[in-house]
Amino acid sequence: MGGKIRVHAHFGLVFTRPLAHNKNKLCRKGAIPIAILIKRALPEDLPECCRVEQASNIGLAYVADVFDHFTRYTVGDFSCGYIDGQLAGIGKLTRLYDGSAWLETLRVDARYQGRGLGKAFYNRFSQQAVELGCPVMRMYTGASNVVSAGLARLNGLEVVAQHQGMTLDLPTAHLPGLPEGFYMATPREAMAAYAGQESGFICLNRTFYAHNPDTIAGLAGDGRVFIHPETGSALVLGARFQRFKGLHLAAPIGDIERCLRFAVAYTAAEELPRLTCTFATDNTYLPGLLTDMGFVPEPAPTVVMEGPPAAT
Ligand SMILES: CC(C)(COP(=O)(O)OP(=O)(O)OC[C@H]1O[C@@H](n2cnc3c(N)ncnc32)[C@H](O)[C@@H]1OP(=O)(O)O)[C@@H](O)C(=O)NCCC(=O)NCCS
Repeated sequence: MGGKIRVHAHFGLVFTRPLAHNKNKLCRKGAIPIAILIKRALPEDLPECCRVEQASNIGLAYVADVFDHFTRYTVGDFSCGYIDGQLAGIGKLTRLYDGSAWLETLRVDARYQGRGLGKAFYNRFSQQAVELGCPVMRMYTGASNVVSAGLARLNGLEVVAQHQGMTLDLPTAHLPGLPEGFYMATPREAMAAYAGQESGFICLNRTFYAHNPDTIAGLAGDGRVFIHPETGSALVLGARFQRFKGLHLAAPIGDIERCLRFAVAYTAAEELPRLTCTFATDNTYLPGLLTDMGFVPEPAPTVVMEGPPAAT
């Protein structure tokens, strides 16, 4: 990765980059090298983090809603990135139920892009993944986001899956009655229901959890797995955050139509406005079933990329 790196005693990594390598128009020719600093976000950083989110031009705004969750209830830093003392980027590493590292909310103010801050964040992610004992790091990005994917690839991550989301707006949907016999599973019941059927990813709020027994146990522990023992059916249903915006449905097994009807009716019963189902693009049965129920595709597919933390 470009630039010299030295470890700052208190704040983490400090990078210095000669200006000759910088492409951004804010760089002044012949000026001293820029200093890049990554450090953990503090509560008072929230307004500036939201400003950076806006200024990255990603077209999504959720930091204000998740900041408290990210900084208080997850393992892994929500970090701020500074260029020459200016807060210019944000990024989050979260250790998921199965011990993997999930890289999310990486945003660099458009005026500072191309100056090495994204690479500095990846360096910090790798360092923290090693510290937390995470054997693998994953992220998702839009299938057409070449910069984000290129940056991930530069850091050893490769595309392992492609997904498509479909959403149902509940106020306009034809609502089925709540199928009887489903209940919220304990971790043990959930693991038994999915035994031998784990594959791919489970997506809630664009967080792609590897489908494995640890993930199922963790999701069930948080009340997000429902089972219907009579028909051998199970599904993941819930929200990682921003529950008020709606629920996410994943990994239906057994009587899949029954699972989908339950998910729709349950979301409506909770008086939530939307249900989203994100599935691998090679799934042959879900798109048709979801379309028949009134779900509409999200504008673009997404890719999941994964790789080991780089040796630091
Ligand atoms: C993606 C993003 C975080 C990158 O941050 P950044 O500070 O500009 O990144 P850096 O300058 O450290 O590194 C850019 C690297 O991306 C890669 N890259 C840039 N343009 C690329 C392209 N067109 N094709 C492939 N790779 C490309 C290169 O590896 C480049 O490094 P290099 O210049 O040494 O070759 C930033 O562009 C951003 O905030 N985008 C909007 C939000 C976003 O898309 N977030 C990603 C998660 S969804």
